[in-house]
Amino acid sequence: MSIENAGFVQGFVRMADDGWRQGWHERNGGNLSYRIKPEELEEVRAWLDFSGRWEKIGAGVPGLTGEIFLVTGSGKFFRNVILNPKENICIIEIDSQGENYRICWGLSAGGRPTSELPSHLMSHEVKKRVTGGTCRVIYHAHPANLIALTFVLPLDSVVFTRELWETATECPVVFPAGLGIVPWMVPGGREIAVETGRLMETFDAAVWAHHGLFCAGADFDVTFGLMHTIEKSAEILTKVMSMGGRRQTILPGWFRQLQEPFGVVLPEKYL
Ligand code: 13P
Ligand code: ZN
Repeated sequence: MSIENAGFVQGFVRMADDGWRQGWHERNGGNLSYRIKPEELEEVRAWLDFSGRWEKIGAGVPGLTGEIFLVTGSGKFFRNVILNPKENICIIEIDSQGENYRICWGLSAGGRPTSELPSHLMSHEVKKRVTGGTCRVIYHAHPANLIALTFVLPLDSVVFTRELWETATECPVVFPAGLGIVPWMVPGGREIAVETGRLMETFDAAVWAHHGLFCAGADFDVTFGLMHTIEKSAEILTKVMSMGGRRQTILPGWFRQLQEPFGVVLPEKYL
């Protein structure tokens, strides 16, 4: 047994590789974090070193004190994660104030966790609270079609949600709460983290205008699937717009008919 064989590490590495293969992670683009379960921590505790130096998170996350996360490294390339997890990802512990972190494993050739750590942790803090602890994964990627749409569609949550819902019947079932929108902001800081966290109160996905997408979910499958569904709908919309626009479409009444069989509530403001 080694850390790399633990199920949650394998799931994390597979997701990073899947995202790379989708073309969402040019160079060091994108980042991934996972809030480790207590029983998973026990599996790997023997490999962790809890004597590292505390570093500032750059945002306060009192709702995450003592939590342990698996996170991609800043400046590391998703395409390299599967080849050498230990050099490209790390396990971090959050201190008892929710102000600092320390590296307990990984980034063996040096480095620090993703520059988007404030956005990841503030999103985790909100999602842990609103889902009663179910949500464990936060995923940021740079999918091209979704980014392209942020130059064309109004940066408005209602318009974006409705346009993407209308590209495929199952979209409203996959993201019934819709999409939040963060206007253009400097990446990597506290300000964009506060705005993203605020949207995570309501949404599982937040568009970063002219940059990418943040998704939250209970596990790797659901979170990857959310990113995949939204980017696929963006691709369909891009194609439809390139072909001169819709000649027929899914009607509001048809969306309403999805609610009962699929057990979702679709806010009327999107219809
Ligand atoms: P990191 O390499 O620091 O994770 O940054 C990549 C990125 O996508 C920033 O938004
Ligand atoms: Zn980014």
